[in-house]
Amino acid sequence: MSEPALATTHRSHLCGALRAEHVGTTVRLGGWVHRARDLGGLVFVDLRDRAGLVQVSFDPSRTGSELAARAASLGAETVVLVEGVVTERPAAMRNPDMATGDVEVRATTLRVVGPADTPAIPVARGKSEQLAAEDLRLRHRFLDLRREELQHNVILRHRLMQRTRRYLSDAGFLEIETPILTKPTPEGARDYLVPSRVHAGEFYALPQSPQIYKQLLMVSGFDRYFQIARCFRDEDLRADRQPEFTQIDVEASFVGQEDVMRVAEGLTRALWEEGGSAAPAEIPRMSYADAMERYGIDRPDLRYGMEIEDVSDAFRGLDFPFTSAALEAGGRVRGIRVPGGAALSRKQLDELDAIVKSAGGRGLLRIKRVNGALEGPAAKVLDESRAAKLRLADGELGLYLAGEDRLANPALDRVRQDVAQRMRLIPDDARAFVWVTDFPMFERDAASGALGAVHHPFTAPHPDDVPLLATEPWKARALAYDLVLNGTELGGGSIRISDPALQARVFALLGVDDETARARFGFLLEGLRAGAPPHGGIAFGFDRIVMLLAGATSLRDVIAFPKTTAARALFEGAPSPVPAADLTELHINVERE
Ligand code: AMO
Repeated sequence: MSEPALATTHRSHLCGALRAEHVGTTVRLGGWVHRARDLGGLVFVDLRDRAGLVQVSFDPSRTGSELAARAASLGAETVVLVEGVVTERPAAMRNPDMATGDVEVRATTLRVVGPADTPAIPVARGKSEQLAAEDLRLRHRFLDLRREELQHNVILRHRLMQRTRRYLSDAGFLEIETPILTKPTPEGARDYLVPSRVHAGEFYALPQSPQIYKQLLMVSGFDRYFQIARCFRDEDLRADRQPEFTQIDVEASFVGQEDVMRVAEGLTRALWEEGGSAAPAEIPRMSYADAMERYGIDRPDLRYGMEIEDVSDAFRGLDFPFTSAALEAGGRVRGIRVPGGAALSRKQLDELDAIVKSAGGRGLLRIKRVNGALEGPAAKVLDESRAAKLRLADGELGLYLAGEDRLANPALDRVRQDVAQRMRLIPDDARAFVWVTDFPMFERDAASGALGAVHHPFTAPHPDDVPLLATEPWKARALAYDLVLNGTELGGGSIRISDPALQARVFALLGVDDETARARFGFLLEGLRAGAPPHGGIAFGFDRIVMLLAGATSLRDVIAFPKTTAARALFEGAPSPVPAADLTELHINVERE
């Protein structure tokens, strides 16, 4: 990427942008002292700014010993202004690992403009330098953000954001902001609430997404909307979840599912290109039912095989404790074949067992084929024709679970993922995009039978399945789709219900009575009655996209000021108690435990 010069009154060039073409130029630089080294009088200072690092030399024979001594005593992270001449390094002194490694700046002046305390954490560079513990780095975020990797990630984020705006704006989408102080949006998480001072006992909710507003914008005729929207969800956090995160939120009118997917694929290609990578011209599709059957999860990682197989037939009618009861109760025996898995140690297999148990499974049945023969507790009960149904090749290990799909699926998914990592079955740099389509409209609570929305309550049913709403609504599919990459859900969306009568029916199925529907979503229902075009859209998890393109493994590495997994901001210290008087003004009485 070519850097603009960013020349100002204090500096002429960026440190990290100096190259051989600048040799002979007198430059004025401003930056942070990464390191000062005194090699017996000759002093080298690595000076750093957002473009990178350059070596500045202070030679006492040119600068006088006083200036060189001052350079030698510079503490790390001090901000200095330096004037000097860009000089070619002698061949033996070049550093091919540094972008500026062909040159150095021979300093003639040095001014300290920003003295620095001894840094609480080192500003590590490259992979070889040890990082401080993450809590400590989050506590001193302004220092950690100086690190090359985080600078790169934050700059990449900026570029992806600009590319998003350009792509969608060029495709006729209008960027429109929606409120932050609003009403609850049902996206499946808890709300962050904000008390109202002027209306005692009333609360705003921070948006879990702009869902209802973007639908209303369609009702209002804006036709194509987008927003790079901040969303807030009070939910259990993981590496790919933050309590406040950013969506690329998109909605369009007079569209069907194909139209939305086409725009989403175009944007994906543009973003992957901006990230220096590539997304396929067409992204393959898989139905939800297929994904659950073959991978046990609705966001399958397709970078490797090991599909789940149904081997119930091999065990049917056998008196074998692990499988009999499950099969009799209408369950199945399903599992994966692990290439080379026969070599896994007992300890590794026990670890897999523990994973299954933590995911709610009873335990794993293991069968391996070694030198042609089956080994494992089931080997004795499986005759040749039954054994053939397992299709185990020599050296393969079969890992099986018996029971209801509802319980087996999450456990099989975990096992498949764990084994892929353990056996290093995931090719470097592999990218497996997939659309998952035909999600069910509803999920049914096993105990109560109550229906919940799988996506959100505004999602349209598949036109073929509308009759099922009256009979077996839990079997109805929705016009909903998720974009998945390497097992991560990048985005999800749907075609919306634009008919107010159908929306009322879906609310009823979800157990939302008329009064509650009016109180919570009245403004949407009114909108739908005011002339609503057919509409639909999608939202991408922007932080996740940046994370994947940056090669990071945590959202915290692509958000300037993130929260911990305990939803705390360690650097600014939030959340924090507030003075009692403030609470009184907000009509809040806090009960302390
Ligand atoms: P959904 O809830 O699927 O859909 O969210 C869309 C995308 O947002 C990302 N995402 C998150 N990223 C980081 N931290 C989180 N806590 C988090 N939660 C979600 C995911 C997800 O795919 N209104 C609908 C979209 C629509 O129907 O148009 C919605 O919000 O990448």
